[in-house]
Amino acid sequence: MINDIQNNLIKKESIFGPDNYKPLPVVLSRAKGVWAWDVNEKKYLDMMSGYSAVSHGHAHPELLRVFHEQSSKLSLTSRAFYTDTLGPYLETITKISGFEMCLPMNSGAEAVETAIKSSRRWAYRTKKVKPEKAEIIVAEGNFHGRTTTIISFSTDENSRHDFGPHTPGFVTVKYGCSESLEAAINENTAAVLIEPIQGEAGIVVPPENYLPEVRKICSKHNVLMILDEIQSGLGRTGKLFAFQHSNIQPDGLILGKALGGGFMPVSCFLSSEEVLHWMNPGSHGSTFGGNPLAAAIAKRSIELLEEDGLIENSRIMGDYFKESLLNLNSKIIKDIRGKGLWLGVEIDPNYVSGKDLSKMCLDAGILCKETHETTIRYAPPLVISKEELDWGIDKIKEVFTKITN
Ligand SMILES: Cc1ncc(COP(=O)(O)O)c(C=O)c1O
Repeated sequence: MINDIQNNLIKKESIFGPDNYKPLPVVLSRAKGVWAWDVNEKKYLDMMSGYSAVSHGHAHPELLRVFHEQSSKLSLTSRAFYTDTLGPYLETITKISGFEMCLPMNSGAEAVETAIKSSRRWAYRTKKVKPEKAEIIVAEGNFHGRTTTIISFSTDENSRHDFGPHTPGFVTVKYGCSESLEAAINENTAAVLIEPIQGEAGIVVPPENYLPEVRKICSKHNVLMILDEIQSGLGRTGKLFAFQHSNIQPDGLILGKALGGGFMPVSCFLSSEEVLHWMNPGSHGSTFGGNPLAAAIAKRSIELLEEDGLIENSRIMGDYFKESLLNLNSKIIKDIRGKGLWLGVEIDPNYVSGKDLSKMCLDAGILCKETHETTIRYAPPLVISKEELDWGIDKIKEVFTKITN
């Protein structure tokens, strides 16, 4: 129930800010682990995890300790100087991902921009593509962020419309179809940029042989295979990276969200020395990218994935969650997609809209949100215990039963 306190705070957001988001009617004020509380102290199970950015749970005690310690020591210097946290972080992230170099940024979209710029430089300087001709192949239904260049190759009209002129140099092919991807390659192709599982499109899992085939095609034509794992990476799918389900290694990897441990925006682009050595002084950068606080948090966030068994928990709890939802045998559920603790439940709009279902879940104490109207995304923090997940499954069951009865 919305009361005056909540109403006033909601009003302030829409009076003093544009409605570029349509939040659910709840005003949160604190959170710990998998739980969040609103201003009236009502408790919710967070199955949204900040669009998968809160994989470690809210206010993870070890990350809180690092945050306090590092912020009281050294937070921000810019990259005009060396710091004692950046090198160790870069070493950690390159070692666990199998890449030679890492270029640190802040938001996901900035890291995608970094991947695009790095790929183009590599194409002109190493592959010798003719000046201004480089092309990057992307997939229908993609979501890579909101900058002017990135929305230029979005296939979602509302993301693009009236934001032109759009940036050229992108070719769109069908997601999950390696034949159409190969057919789009020509002498100017610098890179293929895809999500291993499309998140915002509704947790769309491509055919099993898709990534291995894209890998082969990219190697055959000397094209960089770049994966955007901003949402799917760092344990979310039950492996450290989603590409590991396919036993391949891409040429470039984009990470963000959970890299910041739920505390701050941290992102990066990882690749080989051959690609990244072209990013010389003056070519690219960010005032906040690779700052000491971000580096300390990101290093510890990565280490905790293993230390706390979060990847394994994502796999085990994810399988259990999926099976439990299937066992509901609900007429509302048309399909359940996803891997690990990242599930997209496709609902039958004849029973309920995604928006109404999210609202009903909210009333029942579950934070979740629809994506593309008919898919509800359930992505709790990877620290969730079986007991906590069972609590959530019971609530979801109550909501689904109420709709069909
Ligand atoms: C796959 C993917 N790429 C890029 C982004 C953009 O990240 P950010 O919102 O941090 O710019 C997102 C955000 O949802 C994403 O899911």
